[in-house]
Amino acid sequence: MLDTALRIEPAAGCGADVRDIDLARLTPAEAGQLRQALFDHGVLFFRDQTLTPEQHIALAEQIAPIDVNRFFPAAPGYPTIAKVEKTAEQATNIGGGWHTDHSYDVAPALGSVLVARDLPPSGGDTLFADMYAAYVTLDAETKAQISGLRAVHGSDHVFGEKGVYATTDQPELAKGGVETPETVHPVVIKHPGSGKPVLYVNPSFTLRFEGQTREESLPLLMKLYAHAMSMDRVHTLVWQPGMVAIWDNRATWHFAKNDYHGHYRLMHRITLAGCELEAA
Ligand code: SIN
Repeated sequence: MLDTALRIEPAAGCGADVRDIDLARLTPAEAGQLRQALFDHGVLFFRDQTLTPEQHIALAEQIAPIDVNRFFPAAPGYPTIAKVEKTAEQATNIGGGWHTDHSYDVAPALGSVLVARDLPPSGGDTLFADMYAAYVTLDAETKAQISGLRAVHGSDHVFGEKGVYATTDQPELAKGGVETPETVHPVVIKHPGSGKPVLYVNPSFTLRFEGQTREESLPLLMKLYAHAMSMDRVHTLVWQPGMVAIWDNRATWHFAKNDYHGHYRLMHRITLAGCELEAA
């Protein structure tokens, strides 16, 4: 019998709300329950939390070792906490397109722990898409078409010296010298925590199918993306002060809406280390 009373309730579209839990004082039993819930639901939402940066780090370490993001600036004094920040003067935000963090790595990040620090008066929601459900609801013909396929992922077109961010008002995110070699993952992975099949391609970092050109890959990639974006499998997280989200990068996509121009938004993100991915 577990010595915890936390409640996990499925949320609309994707993920689950977790109640009756204090993330600043997580017991080992609760940490185990949260890890399992994360693998089962893909993303967990928490309200009314009071995490200091130190408690944020301790929470992350109770779930998995930390994998420091090499592109984002760190919060002052906390090298393992990435600042996801947009000032009132900036036009571009971080994460403003469907993606999953670090799919360009050989061992992609397990997940991320995002804490709301300073929110705009309205807007700045984060969308989460359920990639377990995206796979399960594919038609049989498409499932057969992607069975055994592998896809190439990369980051240079986003974060490289000539990448997307280099052309925006956040050129500091486009870092020369940290270019990442392309990497290959199965298109349908066996989730390392749940054992369930997951559709593992994403619009931001997947470049093409292995053995095909980008042009040859695009029709099927676009079909998969359109399917995965279906709003009945998407949750819109409307942030409130004190909210925290923990997501599994293998089981979900996310998208940070950029609809609060003229206002400041600051989130603190810790990325959790993952493992190499196997085909389902
Ligand atoms: C991200 O990690 O992609 C940003 C999420 C957010 O700011 O809501």
